Amino acid sequence: MSSERRKADHVRVTTTLNSQYQGSAGFESIRLRHQALPECSLDEINTETHLFGRSMSMPLIISSMTGGYDQGQTINQELCQLAEQHNLAIGLGSQRSMLEEYTKSKTLPDGFKELRRYAPTTLLFGNIGATQVAQEGDPARLIHLIEAIEADALIVHLNPLQELIQPEGDRDFRGVLKGIERLVIHSPVPIIVKETGAGIHGTAAKQLLEVGVSAIDIAGAGGTSWARAEQLRIDDQAPRDLFSEWGIPTATCLQEVAPLKKDGSFVLIASGGLRSVGDWVKALCLGADHVAVAQPIMKTYVEEGIEGVDSLLTQWKDEMTKVLCLLGAKGLDELTPEKCYL
Ligand SMILES: Cc1cc2nc3c(=O)[nH]c(=O)nc-3n(C[C@H](O)[C@H](O)[C@H](O)COP(=O)(O)O)c2cc1C
Repeated sequence: MSSERRKADHVRVTTTLNSQYQGSAGFESIRLRHQALPECSLDEINTETHLFGRSMSMPLIISSMTGGYDQGQTINQELCQLAEQHNLAIGLGSQRSMLEEYTKSKTLPDGFKELRRYAPTTLLFGNIGATQVAQEGDPARLIHLIEAIEADALIVHLNPLQELIQPEGDRDFRGVLKGIERLVIHSPVPIIVKETGAGIHGTAAKQLLEVGVSAIDIAGAGGTSWARAEQLRIDDQAPRDLFSEWGIPTATCLQEVAPLKKDGSFVLIASGGLRSVGDWVKALCLGADHVAVAQPIMKTYVEEGIEGVDSLLTQWKDEMTKVLCLLGAKGLDELTPEKCYL
């Protein structure tokens, strides 16, 4: 199957069929501590934050999604424009097709290259799979991908579950950590490592930090299940099995990875099944610096177009401001574990 067809299928399956993990991301047992005496005015609440030295209007990253096919190009352009307008960071979908084209023709296709024009000042992240990183002995070509799109950071995605379920997927996951280490040494921009919905536990996070990654996006279970998405891509009626429910819930990953911050600084991103601003704020209280969301954004795009996503982002910002006010927190630095209870 061509990677273009696969990418189009991913959008269809994740937005129209039930590709979501059936368990939960684990945030429902954590409650936010309502402050009946907030002693602040809504106008004073500041949701602004920083990442890699740049300001953002709120700690939300539009998670890496699609790319590499015609319709994907329009989606990327519109989402980049919106990220710029709302001053939010955005991760592009996998640049694997770009790398393959480069191998074939020694030129880089234009599609991804021109996205920077749509997001001239906001944080823009490139994206490549762990297997490609392991296979590229010399990171020069990967660095070329970063430079071609003028990325502010490169995300390496880990997705062994998805690869094993995909009939044409990779089967050899050796050399990934070594490849990431090579990339960290040579990359001109920070390296972020993310999962894709099955989670990064404390031990794996520690290994990633030891090779020098700047940021970890735990991308745990609770939202999009890539095992489920791949099963549905083959058969709309595929029954749920062991792998449909595979993965570590996001809240569990967070509780394992956040304590590593006391041993050294890194950026901790929480994602995977964050479906309300309440979930985001809980994650921020438990130690995340930022949150990332994928499927709800793509589903809104498919159902309501870019205007729908625009309204959704505005609504999220409004809700975030009110939630902070109701916790008696004027800024994100006041979101601490004490703002939650079990
Ligand atoms: C349509 C779609 C395409 C995706 N493509 C990519 C990709 O190319 N690279 C990547 O790192 N993650 C990709 N993801 C995974 C998301 O970035 C995210 O880690 C995952 O969906 C969990 O977040 P969610 O529960 O908010 O959807 C994709 C997700 C969706 C819904």
